[in-house]
Amino acid sequence: MDDHISIRPATDADIPALEALIPLSVRVLQAAYYTPAQMTAALGPVFGVDRQLIRDGTYLVAEGGGEIVGCGDWSRRWAVFGGDRDRPGEDAALDPAADPARVRAVFVRPGWERRGIGRALVAAAESAARAAGFRDAVLVATLAGEPLFAACGYAVTERYDVALAGGVSLAVVRMARRLAAG
Ligand SMILES: CC(C)(COP(=O)(O)OP(=O)(O)OC[C@H]1O[C@@H](n2cnc3c(N)ncnc32)[C@H](O)[C@@H]1OP(=O)(O)O)[C@@H](O)C(=O)NCCC(=O)NCCS
Repeated sequence: MDDHISIRPATDADIPALEALIPLSVRVLQAAYYTPAQMTAALGPVFGVDRQLIRDGTYLVAEGGGEIVGCGDWSRRWAVFGGDRDRPGEDAALDPAADPARVRAVFVRPGWERRGIGRALVAAAESAARAAGFRDAVLVATLAGEPLFAACGYAVTERYDVALAGGVSLAVVRMARRLAAG
């Protein structure tokens, strides 16, 4: 990855920048995979900021050139994707000894793609999950994210459609990877 990129946990102060970055990343970098109607329906419920993960310290941002150029999160909680907008209470905690950690959506700023930022965010998320005792990771990837996660060693376990508002659906891919040896 570019030497000038650094990764740190996100704070509440980053939320406005993340809420601007995510739709930009979706509209440009998913355009080859989904229709505008699919992207519009998914922004918010599927591609929203999960503030719970910012509070947990597991939401990561990549900075470069004085701005946020990517974000990605992992989770010690139940939800595999989505923002916290429609969640009534606190998301349930996982048991690292029994449950796989969630590696969650990675969004890179258009113009910064294919420089290793996505791969670096996944590696940082995995090493934090490993340090927290998790032995496996699962995720639900967009079709745009599938090549990145495949390059990071994840195998496809299921393909399915997420139902969204207005009768729209989004094809996604469930993927998994072992984090710990043995
Ligand atoms: C998916 C995404 C995060 C990838 O980020 P990135 O910083 O460009 O990825 P990297 O540069 O780290 O790529 C690492 C490897 O992943 C694979 N890869 C990444 N993007 C790819 C693409 N568009 N086509 C094919 N392979 C790709 C390649 O093997 C790449 O290695 P290489 O560049 O040496 O060939 C970015 O395209 C994005 O933000 N997309 C829109 C949001 C989204 O759908 N995110 C996924 C949600 S699950």
